[in-house]
Amino acid sequence: MSPTRDDIFELLRAVIDPELGSDIVTLGMAPDVVVSPPDSTGGVDVTVWVKLTIGGCPLRGQIKKDIETRIALHPDVRNVRIEWGEMTSDERSEVMSKARWSARENAADTEVPQSTRILAIASGKGGVGKSSVTVNLATALASQGLTVGVLDADIWGFSVPRLLGISDRLEAVPVEGSDKPKIVPNVLKVGSGQLKVVSTGFLVDEDTALMWRGLMLTKAVEQFLRDVAWGEMDYLLIDMPPGTGDVQMGLARMLPRTDLIIVTTPALAAQKVAARAADMAKRSFLRVAGVIENMSSFTCDHGESYPLFGVGGGQALADEIGVPLLGQIPLEPSVGAGGDAGVPVASNPDGGPAAVVFHAIAQRIIDEIAPPVNMAGCSARMLAAVAAAFDKV
Ligand SMILES: Nc1ncnc2c1ncn2[C@@H]1O[C@H](COP(=O)(O)OP(=O)(O)O)[C@@H](O)[C@H]1O
Ligand SMILES: [Mg+2]
Repeated sequence: MSPTRDDIFELLRAVIDPELGSDIVTLGMAPDVVVSPPDSTGGVDVTVWVKLTIGGCPLRGQIKKDIETRIALHPDVRNVRIEWGEMTSDERSEVMSKARWSARENAADTEVPQSTRILAIASGKGGVGKSSVTVNLATALASQGLTVGVLDADIWGFSVPRLLGISDRLEAVPVEGSDKPKIVPNVLKVGSGQLKVVSTGFLVDEDTALMWRGLMLTKAVEQFLRDVAWGEMDYLLIDMPPGTGDVQMGLARMLPRTDLIIVTTPALAAQKVAARAADMAKRSFLRVAGVIENMSSFTCDHGESYPLFGVGGGQALADEIGVPLLGQIPLEPSVGAGGDAGVPVASNPDGGPAAVVFHAIAQRIIDEIAPPVNMAGCSARMLAAVAAAFDKV
């Protein structure tokens, strides 16, 4: 069905001004939307009015891209046009006070900072390498000096603790400004960066995990988002449980800016199963940022390639959902061995073909797919500080 003006505003709520830490609708930065009358196929053109705190805001490019990709999630949207405007100084102070208000209001919702890029690693079924991809990508990103959260959302099938070689219990500590203690993630240094890791595996033994089966999956994930003192993070990678839509829906509700990365094997049959994950994403209006093909050709010591699990599945899936294929990770014993040893193969950037691909994918995420939010932008906050300083003079 063609989207209404309200539907578009709803989608725009997923667009965050990273600097002001709230969505552009709440902030009043998107004062108007016009939806054209539907064409014969139900398609519409959408025009969005956006007012920036200052005209030359360097975050403009990012906000533009976010608006376009979010609105394009609606299947009936054909074109998106943005009319840019600049706030008056009165509007600017109003937006600042709204930002402060909303920061207080939303404080209880999640502990994930607004400036954190969220990537959920999903697939249609288990065993395709989601967890291996999650820990290796996280390691590759962190090795560039970034802080990367890893949330193991596979609540009762957790494997992140083993893959990263961590078994420390999580502790809850009292935090300032909250009446409830918060869980402190396990921290793992990676080069000049670090991982902040949370998993039910740090709360229960592998055997006791079975008892958690009765627990609502979504509730557990919500709790991790709400009750963990994540602190500053450039990225949060979420290792999704296999084949369930519940957690995706929960994420869409709590963190609508989540991007999905879908992992599939090269088998063309696997592609159909993986496409379901993409479908689900669409229904909950999450953006699919790309596809990763895992367990691609195995290359033996003699240089001969063996496509043990077929060929073409990753590209076919990427084409089907219209997103880039981010990389093909070869089937390589070192990936499994690294997991068993608790040292991801990507810990060593030259650790063989799979490690090289993990680092290349991480680079592509940083450069193009979901660049870390640059907080050094058009500081409305700075402007306010400067204005306040002048007021005093
Ligand atoms: N590229 C790869 N090469 C070799 N083994 C792999 C590769 N990716 C994953 N594996 C192995 O496949 C199994 C399933 O991977 P895992 O990451 O646990 O999948 P999922 O989280 O999707 O269930 C594990 O034993 C893992 O070591
Ligand atoms: Mg897994």
